[in-house]
Amino acid sequence: MIIAKADRLNQVQEYYFARKLAEVRALMAQGKKIINLGIGDPDLPASKNTVQALNASAELPTSHGYQPYRSIPALRVAMADWYAQTYDVTLNPETEVLPLLGSKEGVFHISLAFLNPGDKVLVPNPGYPAYAAVTKLVGAEPVYFDLTAENNWLPNLDVLSQQDLSGVKLMWLNYPNMPTGALASEADFLKITDFARTHNILIVHDNPYSLVLNTKPPVSILHVPGALDCCLELNSLSKSFNMAGWRVGMVLGQKDYIDAIIAVKSNLDSGMFLPVQQAAIAALKNPESWHAERNAVYRRRRELIYQLLDLLGCKYATEATGMFVWARVPDDIADVEDFLNSILYEAYVFLTPGKIFGSNGERYVRVSVCATEENINQAIQNIHQFLTVTK
Ligand SMILES: Cc1ncc(COP(=O)(O)O)c(C=O)c1O
Repeated sequence: MIIAKADRLNQVQEYYFARKLAEVRALMAQGKKIINLGIGDPDLPASKNTVQALNASAELPTSHGYQPYRSIPALRVAMADWYAQTYDVTLNPETEVLPLLGSKEGVFHISLAFLNPGDKVLVPNPGYPAYAAVTKLVGAEPVYFDLTAENNWLPNLDVLSQQDLSGVKLMWLNYPNMPTGALASEADFLKITDFARTHNILIVHDNPYSLVLNTKPPVSILHVPGALDCCLELNSLSKSFNMAGWRVGMVLGQKDYIDAIIAVKSNLDSGMFLPVQQAAIAALKNPESWHAERNAVYRRRRELIYQLLDLLGCKYATEATGMFVWARVPDDIADVEDFLNSILYEAYVFLTPGKIFGSNGERYVRVSVCATEENINQAIQNIHQFLTVTK
């Protein structure tokens, strides 16, 4: 006997990295030393203060119980203070800040809070795959909009405005952009909020990369005057604080929207482990010098990644932000995914095919800076040998 799965699973597969990393692990189990340049998972540790705060709190017998659904007030205050300092955005920690177990869960909570079956959702192509997957899981319909190199990977609002936008309720945006590394300015966000009001669309801006290899001041969409009426912002400690496994994110926005999200979230999960909250409070106080040191390590690694990409004949922008290099694969490579699979199976280097982020990524590869210089150098050697053999 087999019980039928829910229809919603007909449209959604297991997350690409869950499947691909199982394949990578299988190769490793055969004794192959795979160099993973595929995933944006910081390999450097959280700051010392962060870990100390976790340990100190975990020692206390009073730290082990359930926590408030909206987290402890001190964490919300620390997040609001961080927003004020980093983005010059003033938020009420009581009502406009909601800590999350990572921003990925926020994508789901927001979709459940705002979308009815049949609603349409503007989803960037290329973009973070969870936006489209979750849209489908809640019975809504993704409407993809193009991000292209010609338009600096920003939405073309003139083209979008001419489209039939009836039924569109929500739009996902993400700058510094993953996977392309493109930035949006406050002027771009201003145009986007005007567009949102004209068409009655809720903008959800996902902002986890603004402190990673960013040479410009970090920008929040919530800094645009009046943005709280039509925007929510997601943020995360995963990338900017080397805390991907800790699962700490946040959603920021007006009280009415945050209340809708907590109505969903409080029925699905509970407040995060108190020591993690205390640690997050400590992390949010990391000095600028801590971020600068991390970025210096990433910058050196990125120079090596450029060498690796030069070897492959790929073209890339050197001013990109975030923890990836997004590079165009030469036109004489017929199928990029096949080519990257040969590199995985023959050179033992895992690189992410751009097409998993959407059709506009088909000719691209995404390379992560989350690997040591030693490993990137080894990857260069492996690929050099692979290319010599296959010539
Ligand atoms: C654009 C984007 N948004 C959200 C996330 C999820 O981050 P978190 O660890 O906070 O769930 C990622 C992670 O890769 C991402 O690239």
